[in-house]
Parts: sequence; C-alpha cells; structure tokens
Amino acid sequence: MIIAVDGPLASGKGTIARALAAHFTLPHLDTGTLYRAVAVAVAEAGAQPEDAAAAEAAARSLDIAAIDETKIRTAGAGLTASIVSAHPGVRAALLTLQREFADQPGGAVLDGRDIGTVIAPHADVKLFVTADAQVRAGRRHAELVNRGEQIGFDQVLDQLRQRDARDASRADAPMMQAEDAVTLDTSELTQGEAIREAIAIVEARRAG
Ligand code: C5P
Repeated sequence: MIIAVDGPLASGKGTIARALAAHFTLPHLDTGTLYRAVAVAVAEAGAQPEDAAAAEAAARSLDIAAIDETKIRTAGAGLTASIVSAHPGVRAALLTLQREFADQPGGAVLDGRDIGTVIAPHADVKLFVTADAQVRAGRRHAELVNRGEQIGFDQVLDQLRQRDARDASRADAPMMQAEDAVTLDTSELTQGEAIREAIAIVEARRAG
C-alpha cells in the first residue's frame, strides 16, 4: 500500500506520516528532508539558492546518508529549501529516488508537497493535511524555540506565508491537493486525534 501525505508546513503531515508508517508497518520518507539538504549543500558551496545550476548540481550529488538533521531543521534551511525546490532541475534530480521509494515492494508512506500529484499519482490513499496559518505558525514557532532557535512568532508567520506562496505558485510540481485526496484539517485537533483520524481515513479507503 502506498500512502501519499501532502500539505503545507506545520500542518501535521510529518507527524501523521510517521504515525501511519508505524501503524501499518511501512517504510517512511519525509521528502522535505531532501530539499532542505539541497538548500544546506548550496549554502555550504557558497552559492545562492536562486542559482539553478548550483542547486541542481547539489541535488545530483546529494548523499542521503550524510544528511545532518540539526543543520536542515532550521527556519533558514526551510526558507531556502522553498527556493531551491522551485528549480525544475532540482526536482528532476530527486524524482527517481522518491519514485523508487514509493514503488518498493510492500509499499511506503511519503510526505511532501507533490506526492499525490507527481511522485505517486497511483498511491492507494492520498491525504492532504492542512491547518489554519496562525495555528501552523504557532506550532512551528514552538518547535524552533525548543530547538534553541531565537525567532519571533511574527517572523515565523511571515516566513510561513512566503513559503506557502512559493510552494503553491511554482510552475513545476506546485503544492496542490490531488483530486482524489482526502482533506484532513488539523487546526482544532490534538496530535492524537489527527493520527486517529488519518488511520480511520486509510482504513476506510482500504475497505473500498
Ligand atoms: O516539508 P518541509 O517543510 O521540510 O519542506 C521544505 C521545503 O521543501 C518546502 O517548503 C518545499 O518548498 C520543498 N518540498 C517540495 N516538495 C516536496 C517536499 C518539500 O517542494 N515533496
């Protein structure tokens, strides 16, 4: 079974995808990690994220085993990830890896922005996880502060709006709800409630 989980940042899609993977004993890929790692690699090479050739080169030589979680989880890496991810060359470089992960025997859970539309349009179940922008900014702010980052709520909200707009408006594989995706709005749900709801959606789809 392939489960595609898409949605904007801090909607809860990552938590839900991990929980679904554990519940249904499936491997999980957080595809945002790949774009974040490209963003960090571009910066470390001394290039600008707007530089399409440098970003594509970084994506083509990405060593997944060497991704440093502490470097990629910053607000800055998230923001530059939304710039490098708009380059078609970057998306093309990361496509095969993601498709192979989705199509492995037994299936998989992938979360991102274009899983149900581009990476695995044939997924058995598609979820589009969303939440109110203020709620998402509050969650992301708490997460970043917990990690020791000094950043204000207003700055997080502003970056979130910028990233949402960039992700939804790019020409290549924009963030978009697949026609056959089920919407899960987590604005007023606890983590546990959102996970239970997601499991119920998958069970219902599986039952036909
Ligand atoms: O999900 P996360 O916030 O870690 O993703 C970081 C950025 O990577 C997103 O803002 C988006 O620009 C990009 N991304 C993407 N397609 C995906 C996953 C992430 O373009 N499938």
